[in-house]
Parts: sequence; C-alpha cells; structure tokens
Amino acid sequence: MISTQASKLIGLTNNVKTKSKTKLITITSGKGGVGKSTFTANIAYLLAQKGLKIAVLDADIGLANMQVLFDIKPKTTFFDYIDGRKSLDEIILKTEYPNVSLIAGKSGYEYSNHSNTFVYTRVAEDIIALNEFDILLVDTGAGLNDYVKEFLSISDNILALTTTDPSALTDVYSLMKMLSLGKSKLMLCFNHTRNYKIGETISNSLVKLAQKNRLNSDFMVEYIGNVSTSAQISTTGRLRKLFTKEFILDESTKQMQVIIDYLIKNIH
Ligand SMILES: Nc1ncnc2c1ncn2[C@@H]1O[C@H](COP(=O)(O)OP(=O)(O)O)[C@@H](O)[C@H]1O
Ligand SMILES: [Mg+2]
Repeated sequence: MISTQASKLIGLTNNVKTKSKTKLITITSGKGGVGKSTFTANIAYLLAQKGLKIAVLDADIGLANMQVLFDIKPKTTFFDYIDGRKSLDEIILKTEYPNVSLIAGKSGYEYSNHSNTFVYTRVAEDIIALNEFDILLVDTGAGLNDYVKEFLSISDNILALTTTDPSALTDVYSLMKMLSLGKSKLMLCFNHTRNYKIGETISNSLVKLAQKNRLNSDFMVEYIGNVSTSAQISTTGRLRKLFTKEFILDESTKQMQVIIDYLIKNIH
C-alpha cells in the first residue's frame, strides 16, 4: 500500500510538464534483450557530453540493470520514494559521469498492487517538476504491460529500440498499433544493424503495413538511426564501463552520436 505521506507528496504535480524545462524521453522496445539499457546509458552519457543535465530513470521492473551499467550500488531505488520511505532528493543518485544522475530501479517489485494508478509515473512527473534536468530518460521494461503503458502514456517523446529480428519487429508493430491510438509519433532505432539503409527500409515496410491495416494516419513513425553490433559493447558493459566513453571513435559510438544529435533537435 502506498503511504498517505507519499500519496500527498506525489499528488501535487499535475500539469508540471508544460512548465518545466525538463524533456522526457521514454525508451522502450517490444522485445527484451535488444540492447535498450545499454543504449539508454550510452546516450545519457553522450547527451551529457553536450553539456546537458541528464537524469536516467530505470523503470524496468523485470530487469533493472542500469545501476550495473553505471557501476553504482544503489542504497535507494525509486520504489523507496513511491512507498514514502525516501524523499525525491534521496533517490536521485550521482554517477561518476558529470551531469548524469540515476534513479535506480529494482527487479521483481510487485507492481500489480498499484496497477492502473499512475503511481509510478508520478516519479517521472515529480522529477520533471524539479525543473533541474534538461532531459529525463526513462528505460521501460520490455513488453506492453500496464506499467509500461503508463510510462508511454505520459510521454510525448517515445523512442523504440529494436533489432531486425522478425519477433522484435512483430513486437514493434504491436507497439505502433497501440501508440497510434493516442500518440502522434514514434521514433525508431535499430540496434545490431550495421547498415543505415536496412533500418530505413524496414521502417518503411512497417509504415506501409500500418497504412494497409489502416492505423491512424496522423500517427508517424520516424526512423532516426542504427547502431552496429560491436564486440566491445558487451565487454565494456561487463567491466561496468560505458562503451561510448571508452571507444569514442568506434562506429557504434558515431552512430549513437547521430541519434543524439537528432534527439537534441527534435524532442519537445
Ligand atoms: N550494439 C551492440 N553490440 C554488441 N552488444 C550489444 C549491443 N547492444 C547491446 N549489446 C549487449 O546485449 C546485451 C543485452 O543488452 P541490454 O542493454 O541489457 O538489453 P535490454 O535492456 O534491451 O534487455 C548486453 O550484453 C549488451 O552488452
Ligand atoms: Mg534492460
């Protein structure tokens, strides 16, 4: 049960989004294991290198591993805030990377208690209300459960990371179908994809399929880039270092640079 103290605290933040400088980017994928957390941590670093103040919220209940990528052993997670044990300041953790803060998550938390209540998304909204960060990146879990849907529903900048794997594409199409009902746009990135054109071609096919199936025609899918497979990405991950910092000149780093340049220009 959520404590009354916490519910009071988090009940005060409606409509803050419009007044805050903090832009929210929700990063999702239909399928797990496509590289979403690795991608999120690295683009957080690259955005911070551009002088932006970044917060990363690990909202993956299935597999919260952002703290591993940032090499932090968190004493607090965002559930301590939801449950009223900690203040917002106490759950925003500094990382070793300048201008990158982490709000850690926790695997296996019993979220069904609060399902459809927007309790979790209030954490994101309260961070936005602080007006302290330029960008809040939310790493949602894979799949389309109620919890992920809540995070998607509060976000105007949704980025899906996928691979070219047929099952990953099927999941992305389900995501498109759902988002087309209420959102205007989905940004699409392909991981494990060497060739920019391949990502573009597949994006176009997904858009054609959407047209054929008469998804809402106001809904746009925008292809924003690809990231190659690089052997060093999992190696540096295992060493708890960030790939884009250690391998500045690698092709994958450059591809992520292109993606963050797009984000800086196009998110609202
Ligand atoms: N472009 C890439 N090249 C090589 N390995 C990658 C790449 N992207 C992710 N990985 C590796 O894939 C594995 C899963 O990545 P992770 O970010 O945990 O996925 P997700 O968050 O989608 O479940 C990790 O071992 C990670 O290092
Ligand atoms: Mg993950």
